[in-house]
Amino acid sequence: MSTKSRLLGTGAYLPERTVTNDELANWLADQGVETSSDWIVARTGIEQRHFASESETTTYMGTQAARRALEAAGVSGPSLDMIVVATSTPDQVFPSMACSIQAELGAKAAFAFDIQAVCSGFVYALTVADSMIRSGQVRNALVVGAEVFSRLLDWQDRTTCVLFGDGAGAVYLQAAEGQEAGILACSLHSDGTLGEILTAKAHFHNGKIIGDPFLRMDGQTVFKQAVTVLGNNALDTLRQAGVEPSALSLLVPHQANIRICSNCQKTGAH
Ligand SMILES: CC(C)(COP(=O)(O)OP(=O)(O)OC[C@H]1O[C@@H](n2cnc3c(N)ncnc32)[C@H](O)[C@@H]1OP(=O)(O)O)[C@@H](O)C(=O)NCCC(=O)NCCS
Repeated sequence: MSTKSRLLGTGAYLPERTVTNDELANWLADQGVETSSDWIVARTGIEQRHFASESETTTYMGTQAARRALEAAGVSGPSLDMIVVATSTPDQVFPSMACSIQAELGAKAAFAFDIQAVCSGFVYALTVADSMIRSGQVRNALVVGAEVFSRLLDWQDRTTCVLFGDGAGAVYLQAAEGQEAGILACSLHSDGTLGEILTAKAHFHNGKIIGDPFLRMDGQTVFKQAVTVLGNNALDTLRQAGVEPSALSLLVPHQANIRICSNCQKTGAH
């Protein structure tokens, strides 16, 4: 009998502080940077974002989202076998965010590790957890995605600083045998040769931060890649699962940019 991963609980956490486009544009104007709510909405669909306070760390937000996912499923930290956290903005180099969140949850029986795949990190983490459940390695898995991107933003760079925000999400997965419900297929894709189009290059060396500490992006190339690869990956996943695009009632891209989301939706409609 084949084992599948059933998704039994979801949870999310958003920082308390909401910043509308107008608020951001006014604040940026004070820094000598020109933008407008109209430009942001027209190019991205974004109307507001959440920015974390000093105390809303990646660990804190990830733990809050995780608690909500576990509560929704009616389980608690000690029942977990595995915690995987996707983040590119950890609170520290190590211990991993997964270990920090494990400690907060009292999930003593679990092993815990992070995955770093930036925007697609949550999909990578979910795929790894699903594979470990299907292989019989674990039965109870927590997957968390948590980011504080506002800490990487250069407020003088209007091509990036209006696009990103902070938050966390989590899902609890459980092994199930002979069930119809469960994750049917996953598909991952990477192209390391395009590494230069979205970067945060700084690293530590001899007690100093070396390199550019800010996020940098070639927006147009990211846009073209995201539209093509997201659509193709979604179609590949559907093919593996034997599901027609027309059967979908909900498509949830890992993306806040409405133009990328709608282009991805159109790929499946052709
Ligand atoms: C970033 C993005 C919104 C920019 O939209 P675009 O249509 O490509 O815009 P361009 O970069 O061609 O810039 C057009 C003009 O707007 C200006 N502009 C850029 N940012 C601006 C801002 N925040 N406010 C006002 N004007 C802005 C540019 O300077 C340029 O002016 P110019 O024509 O006088 O040179 C778009 O490329 C995009 O969505 N990329 C994907 C980004 C993404 O989603 N990344 C997340 C990780 S997956």
